[in-house]
Amino acid sequence: MYYIGVDLGTSAAKLLLMDEKGAILNIVSKEYPLFFPKPGWAEQNPEDWMRAVRAGIPELVSGIDRADIAGIGCGGQMHGLVVLDESDRVIRPAILWNDGRTQVETEYLNREIGRERLAALTGNIAFAGFTAPKLLWMRKQEPENFTRIRRIMLPKDYINYCLTGVHATDYSDASGMLLLDVCNKRWSEEMLRICGVAPEQLPRLYESYEAIGTLRPVMAEALGLPETVRVAAGAGDNAAAAIGCGVVGQGGCNISLGTSGTIFLSSERFRADSGNALHSFVHADGGWHFMGCMLSAASCNKWWMDEILRTREYSGEQAGITEERLGRNHVYYLPYLMGERAPHNDPDARSCFIGMTMDTGRETMTQAVLEGVAFGLRDSLEAAKKLGVCPSSSMLCGGGAKSPIWRRILANILNIRLTIPETEQGPGYGGAILAAVACGAYPSVRAAAAALVHVTGTVEPDPLIAARYEEKYRNYRSLYPALRDIFPRL
Ligand code: XUL
Repeated sequence: MYYIGVDLGTSAAKLLLMDEKGAILNIVSKEYPLFFPKPGWAEQNPEDWMRAVRAGIPELVSGIDRADIAGIGCGGQMHGLVVLDESDRVIRPAILWNDGRTQVETEYLNREIGRERLAALTGNIAFAGFTAPKLLWMRKQEPENFTRIRRIMLPKDYINYCLTGVHATDYSDASGMLLLDVCNKRWSEEMLRICGVAPEQLPRLYESYEAIGTLRPVMAEALGLPETVRVAAGAGDNAAAAIGCGVVGQGGCNISLGTSGTIFLSSERFRADSGNALHSFVHADGGWHFMGCMLSAASCNKWWMDEILRTREYSGEQAGITEERLGRNHVYYLPYLMGERAPHNDPDARSCFIGMTMDTGRETMTQAVLEGVAFGLRDSLEAAKKLGVCPSSSMLCGGGAKSPIWRRILANILNIRLTIPETEQGPGYGGAILAAVACGAYPSVRAAAAALVHVTGTVEPDPLIAARYEEKYRNYRSLYPALRDIFPRL
């Protein structure tokens, strides 16, 4: 049998076809537009996501006996607010995970309701990208839209709703709404009240590996698939990526260098971050995890290459960053193109370079960009260490993980071993694994991950380079506090 994994990302939907043994038979990617209506805002049209999935699946499965396709599982960009009206029409464009418009609402939640109360209700404090502050923003700024809301959902849940007609979500993705009591895996009535939301507007909750239904006949026909295809509840993209990298159970670590950069620490028990830097969410294996999320990771390099250097030669630009240059750069880059989530929780933060001299060239600045992202991830690692969570190694996935020099920089700045999985397609591969479990091919997510995930190699930190970066990290760390008060004035 075959399983379709969907990575509903910020730039594209990446679909993959996996067989029962975990081999990837085909990958199809369909891009869609991303809109920045104002600085710091980010929106997408849910219909564009669905168009990409509808166009991508028939292409993905061409040449395959359709009767052998058993399931679909999606790992989706998290936190996005999707709202449908009485007739199931999308009311307004989705407000995305990296949108910073809700500063006032986030402050209201953290100050007026209070961080401690929020943590007691949900396991988390409010961050600008979370869904609850977006609902408060919509209630205030677009009251006529707000009153039309019949269904509230997250991005991948919109795909699942179109596929099955079932209004569902999973615990991992629901965790990022700030409406879920993460510890007890149920909606928080008080958070619903605070946000003016009725329980019937919210999706039904499932574990990620449970089937929510099968394809609607009209959808089966459009996709050329049997109506018996089961759709798994799926997961937030980071939880799905962790599954795709075999990070399950107690003490695992996964780093994703995608549009966002995340460090994901799996756990069998629920625990909140008393330091308020890391998110405490449900995992797609049934357990929980801590996660630090930086809003711009591989997107910093993409911005630097596409918009500033105006080149497609990503690896060519990195070719001059030799081993001897690691830990010796005197130029620093702050990766805050969309503000920052962990650990600063500051939508006003902005990117900058500092430390250039007359001999600074594009290579040095390219290196600074790669290093700045790695330093940003180190900030989240430090927050985890404060909680006594000190991983000595991590899996690594996401588009940025394909760059050998970026892997070396990251291993040395974090000073941990990085393990590279056979496929860097974390969320899509995790989605396909969840579909396989939902179809009964494996008894549990852990059993499936153990059987299907393979590694290709490791990257070890070098003690001398790591020591040089240690000093550089101290400098990096002092930059944000020095600039924090200036950012809002920019
Ligand atoms: C996680 C987060 C991002 C998005 C990216 O909290 O906001 O990683 O899920 O798609």
